[in-house]
Amino acid sequence: MAVGALISDPHPGVEVPDGSEHELLLVRRGMRTGIQMIVAVHSTVLGPALGGCRMWHYATLRDAIDDALRLSSAMTLKAAAARLPLGGGKSVVRLPDGPQPSGALRRAMLQDFADALNLLDGLYITAEDVGSTPEDMAVLSSHSSFVVGSPARRGGSGDPGDFTAAGVQAAMKACCARRYGTAKLAGRSVAIVGLGHVGEPLARRLVKDGASLLLSDIDPARLTLANELGASWLDPEDALRAEVDVLAPCALGGVLDDVLAEELGCQIVCGSANNQLARDEVADRLAARGIMYAPDFIVNSGGLINVSLELTGYDRALAQRRADEIEGVLEQVLLHAEQTSVTPLAAAVELANGRLAAAERSTAA
Ligand SMILES: NC(=O)c1ccc[n+]([C@@H]2O[C@H](COP(=O)([O-])OP(=O)(O)OC[C@H]3O[C@@H](n4cnc5c(N)ncnc54)[C@H](O)[C@@H]3O)[C@@H](O)[C@H]2O)c1
Repeated sequence: MAVGALISDPHPGVEVPDGSEHELLLVRRGMRTGIQMIVAVHSTVLGPALGGCRMWHYATLRDAIDDALRLSSAMTLKAAAARLPLGGGKSVVRLPDGPQPSGALRRAMLQDFADALNLLDGLYITAEDVGSTPEDMAVLSSHSSFVVGSPARRGGSGDPGDFTAAGVQAAMKACCARRYGTAKLAGRSVAIVGLGHVGEPLARRLVKDGASLLLSDIDPARLTLANELGASWLDPEDALRAEVDVLAPCALGGVLDDVLAEELGCQIVCGSANNQLARDEVADRLAARGIMYAPDFIVNSGGLINVSLELTGYDRALAQRRADEIEGVLEQVLLHAEQTSVTPLAAAVELANGRLAAAERSTAA
């Protein structure tokens, strides 16, 4: 359903950039707080657009809009590749200068954001993202029906980190099966860079699988996890370049740039971080070096799969099974990439676009 760009006052000059395939861009100033809020819906071809709400500081409104546009198109690919009946969207709340809004101001800001959700009437469903919390989702859900990701004790699916980690673990098995002829992770050396909500449960899962771990984080306090798990520890710059079977970037996006691509010591890159490649061409550099790059939007789709199940009645066991299915999805992508001599990234985009095209054809028929 292409609805075109919807721009609300007081930002009449804001436009979806030329060449953009987005269905909708809503730019709004909260009635209670005056805080700027953006919702970008890239596609609703497969279903309502589901994606997190990023609450962050941006130098300009344009920067905030560009982030929402970029992040929402990645969500379309992620949902399509994961075979979910969902489209791609993302929202941004442009935080005012100073500390994170709290107390009454945060509640008012969330009510303002709920107004934006209600205006879109289900075209976009929000969830937690960088800067927003499951508690925020619980507040939002008392003002809008178009919210998932509240804490488990408030009826939501809770922290998705372990499901995302389960998906990364499943994806690693697919990579190892293609690279080494066995999906077993026992004895594989894995470097995890970033030990947060995903990196820590991933480390715990891989230890159980018998992998040999090298852990890293900018926060030196995370060394305690390495000690607890009997893992090695390196600072992030060295860990990213370590000679290991698998490198799992689980911190920030954009980490794999042209320089690092030449210096990696791993055989496989398979981690949870969103938008790992500084630019898509880095996938070609990695392939030329014989390094298998597992596309991030497939590897980290366990979190989206988990939260999406709230829409049909949440079932934790089903969420785990669906996260495990990422192994099969990635196997298919890696095989197709080999057979057609393209990178796994190109094969994954083709798979996702193929699903979107098939849905468009059946709508048109
Ligand atoms: N949480 C999820 O379910 C989920 C789902 C999909 C994708 N992701 C992506 O996975 C990544 C990790 O998510 P998370 O929820 O674990 O985040 P988090 O904020 O809980 O953890 C990130 C960790 O990385 C560390 N870190 C930050 N910069 C670093 C650097 N330069 N080098 C090494 N460590 C660094 C932080 O200290 C922190 O421990 C993010 O890119 C996120 O977008 C997360």
